[in-house]
Amino acid sequence: MSNVAVVPGSFDPITLGHIDVIERAATLFDELHVVVVHNPDKHALIPIAHRVALIEKSLDERGLRGSNIVINSWSVGLLVDYCTDVGASAIVKGIRSQVDVAYETPMAIVNRNLAGVETIFLLPDPAHAHVSSSLVRQVSALGGDVAPYVPRAVAEFLDHTTD
Ligand code: PNS
Repeated sequence: MSNVAVVPGSFDPITLGHIDVIERAATLFDELHVVVVHNPDKHALIPIAHRVALIEKSLDERGLRGSNIVINSWSVGLLVDYCTDVGASAIVKGIRSQVDVAYETPMAIVNRNLAGVETIFLLPDPAHAHVSSSLVRQVSALGGDVAPYVPRAVAEFLDHTTD
């Protein structure tokens, strides 16, 4: 039986912090699903299909496509339904700070209660500890340079969006 895990998120847009977590998680599981999940609590900047395309390009840049990583989206139902569909026993999340711990803990417990899916927290490279999608969106909207925080494909996309 293969070990399958899911890295879910809004990925609005994917950042170098996300890439770091994905790269680490991909070494721990036979198959890793990176899944763009609709989060009704957040007003998204980028349409889901485009977020998926940006993840594909970003993983291409890192030579990670064609490996054990599957890229997908999920906008109906519970995340654990997706996990069950693909036979995933774990969800992987990056933890940058105590704020992330507080945000992620209830979701991890609910997901375990709902379907027995465990959540594994990875500590990202401290170089990315301050990077978030919301910060990237804000810097980009106000004309700042986001290149240090995101894959090239995302920086190019945001450049064109704010032109
Ligand atoms: O990147 P985000 O926005 O912090 O990701 C949060 C996300 C989308 C992974 C989370 O909101 C989620 O899992 N949503 C799916 C709906 C669901 O299953 N909710 C119940 C358990 S948390």
